[in-house]
Amino acid sequence: MSIRETEFSDQVEATVTFSGKTQRIQWRKEMSLLDAMLNAGIDAPHSCCSGKCGTCVCKLQAGEVRLKRNFVLSETHLQQGLILACVAAPVSDSIHITYDNF
Ligand code: FES
Repeated sequence: MSIRETEFSDQVEATVTFSGKTQRIQWRKEMSLLDAMLNAGIDAPHSCCSGKCGTCVCKLQAGEVRLKRNFVLSETHLQQGLILACVAAPVSDSIHITYDNF
C-alpha cells in the first residue's frame, strides 16, 4: 500500500489477541474498535458500550487510539496502555491489542 493510500484509507488494520488466538481484522474508522471486533466475529466482552463500566478493557500493545469517553480508567491505567474498546477511535493506521495476560 502506498503512503497516499494509507493516508486516505478509511480502514485500520487491527491485530487482536483474544482467548489465546491472534487475528487481523479491518477496522473501519467511523466505528468503534468494539464494533469492528464484533463484526469480525470476535466475542469481545462488553456491556455499557459507552465508556462507563470497564468490561471492554484491553491493552494496546502497538499503535495509537483516542478514547472518545472514559469514566473508568485512571491516568495510571492509560499509561499502562489500557484502553476501552467501546469508545476507541483510531489514530494510527495499525494497532495491536490484547485481552490476554495483562
Ligand atoms: S463496554 Fe462498558 S466501558 Fe466499554
